[in-house]
Amino acid sequence: MKLNPLLVCLPGAEHLAPGLATGLQCDLADMTFRRFPDGEGYLRFHNDPMGRDLVLVAVLQDPDRHLARLQFTAAAGRAQGAGRIGLIAPYLPYLRQDTAFQPGEAVTARHMGALVSSAVNWLVTLDPHLHRIDRLSRVLNIPHRSVSSAGKLAAWITARIPRPLIIGPDAESAGWVKDIAMRLAAPYLVLTKQRIGDEAVRIRPDGVRDLAKRTPVIVDDIVSTGATMCASIAALLTAGAAPPVCCVIHALFGAGVEARLLSAGADCVVTTTSIRPRPGAIDIVPPLVRGAADLLRPPIRH
Ligand code: R5P
Repeated sequence: MKLNPLLVCLPGAEHLAPGLATGLQCDLADMTFRRFPDGEGYLRFHNDPMGRDLVLVAVLQDPDRHLARLQFTAAAGRAQGAGRIGLIAPYLPYLRQDTAFQPGEAVTARHMGALVSSAVNWLVTLDPHLHRIDRLSRVLNIPHRSVSSAGKLAAWITARIPRPLIIGPDAESAGWVKDIAMRLAAPYLVLTKQRIGDEAVRIRPDGVRDLAKRTPVIVDDIVSTGATMCASIAALLTAGAAPPVCCVIHALFGAGVEARLLSAGADCVVTTTSIRPRPGAIDIVPPLVRGAADLLRPPIRH
């Protein structure tokens, strides 16, 4: 009898693993991960991976800390006889550097795709940051699914905000902002962003309209320093908007950024569980399960 796949939860993904294991009918692997005093990692499988498919679940914010462990886990599983190895990584890092702006720069989006493609057999990710590289198949050469949180975000907004106006802070956000607005039959607009430095942006509220009697809901795929959200909030308040609700798909931010958004004038901040669990966070396990189901158990073709 074929055993269930083993779901291997890498440190940091503990809030996602039980729901994914249940939804995908996997057994949760018993693992030891630890760090030696000098920072190198140790890992051990306590279940024999021989002949079993593996599903690795990883939260890849602060990726330089996590990618070696991911590669070594996949390599150790393969060395111990595992079958196909998949990766569920809700946040796929390094996609924002998708072209060489200066001679000699690394186009990390391409290198990230090559790294994942060499480590595992398939990938499921959520709302990857696609802009100048417009689809993941341009950087990955393994089967993959890019699932969307738009349905979950739209449901959250419907339940709480009577007359929303969906707002994207920059051109990159146009796709998901349109998608959410269409699901809600709500108006949307996209602001114009100019990045001046890692922690400084300028937002032009071009074409701002429909503010009267609407609650602005700013949706961004990534919040890191909070500069983009803060500048968007300021631009909207200056244009006469009510305090905006901030919706974040991948909340890469550390302590202090949420307070910064609130003191810039946000009404509230909601995130998904892509990076960490937070009170009231929007659960993204269901779309990840849907994306992984047919990669884990491909339909038998006759
Ligand atoms: C970039 O285009 C992304 O969609 C985000 O707007 C950006 O990464 C946010 O970063 P920060 O919070 O540091 O402004």
